[in-house]
Amino acid sequence: VTFSIDQFEVGGKVAVVTGAGGRGNSIGRAYALGLAKAGATVVVADINAAGAGAVADEIVSAGGKAIAIAADITLPESVKAMAKRAADSFGGVDILVNNAALMVELGYQPAAEVPIADWNRLMAVNVTGALNCVQAVVPMMRARGGGKIVNQVSGGAFPAMSLYGVSKLALTGLTTLLARQLGRDNINVNAIAPGNVTSDAGKQLTPDDSPFIKLLEATVAMRVRGQPDELVGALLLLCSNAGSWITGQTLHVDGGWVLRP
Ligand SMILES: NC(=O)c1ccc[n+]([C@@H]2O[C@H](COP(=O)([O-])OP(=O)(O)OC[C@H]3O[C@@H](n4cnc5c(N)ncnc54)[C@H](O)[C@@H]3O)[C@@H](O)[C@H]2O)c1
Repeated sequence: VTFSIDQFEVGGKVAVVTGAGGRGNSIGRAYALGLAKAGATVVVADINAAGAGAVADEIVSAGGKAIAIAADITLPESVKAMAKRAADSFGGVDILVNNAALMVELGYQPAAEVPIADWNRLMAVNVTGALNCVQAVVPMMRARGGGKIVNQVSGGAFPAMSLYGVSKLALTGLTTLLARQLGRDNINVNAIAPGNVTSDAGKQLTPDDSPFIKLLEATVAMRVRGQPDELVGALLLLCSNAGSWITGQTLHVDGGWVLRP
C-alpha cells in the first residue's frame, strides 16, 4: 500500500481561488484558507480588491503564502492578466477553484419574464467566467504536467429550481466536458455541489425562517445548513493526490439533500 495521509496535502502547489475575497464569511475564503493550511500558495482572486487583500493578509498572518489579485472573471483580458501575475509570482498554476459567482445578486426571477440582460450577466459570470479562467490556466497546467480544476456548483441545480440553478447546471456540464477533454493532460476536473451554507451570502439569501429552509428541513437527511469550513475536506480531496483518479464527478456536500445513487 502506497497511500499515506499526506496525500491530502498540496505543499508546493499554486492554487487560484476565484471569488475568495468577497463578503466576510464566504466559501471562497474558507477554500483559500484551507488550501493554504494544506500547504498551497494561494492566489486570492476577486472583483472586490479590498476583500481579496483582506483574505490574503489573513493567510499570510497565519504563516501561509498568498497574494491578492483583483480580477473580473467575465473579462478574458483581466483573467489572462491574473494568470500571468500568478505565473510571474510563483512559476505557474496547479489548482484552479472556480468559486466566483452571482448568487444573491441575480438568478431568481421567473424565466418567462427575466430581462435578457440579467440572464446574460448571470451566465457571463457563473458559466463564461469559469471558462475564461480555465482557458487562462490550462496551458500552465499542461506545462507543469497536470493540474486540478474544481467548479463550484450547487445542490440547487439538481434539478435546477431557478435561473441560478440553470447556470450551475451549465457549469456542471462544462465540468464533465472538460474532464473528458483534459484527462489525458493529467488534469482532473470535478465539481462540488454544496447544500445550504451559512456564508454571509447564504444567510442573506435564505434566512433561517425563510420558506426554502423550511422546505429543506422536511427533506434533508442530516442537517440543512453547513458551515463554509465543512466544504474544505471535499475540496482537498479533489485538489490533492488523494483524488488522483477522480474526474468528471460532482461531489454533493449538503448533509444529504440531493441523494444520488
Ligand atoms: N452559500 C450557499 O449556500 C451556497 C450554496 C451552493 C453554492 N454556493 C456557491 O458557492 C460560491 C461562493 O458562495 P458564497 O456564499 O461564498 O457567496 P459570495 O457572494 O460571498 O461569493 C461570491 C464571490 O464572487 C465574487 N464575484 C462576483 N462576480 C465576480 C466577477 N465578475 N469576477 C470575480 N469575482 C466575482 C464576489 O465578489 C464574491 O466574493 C458561489 O459559486 C455560490 O454560487 C453557495
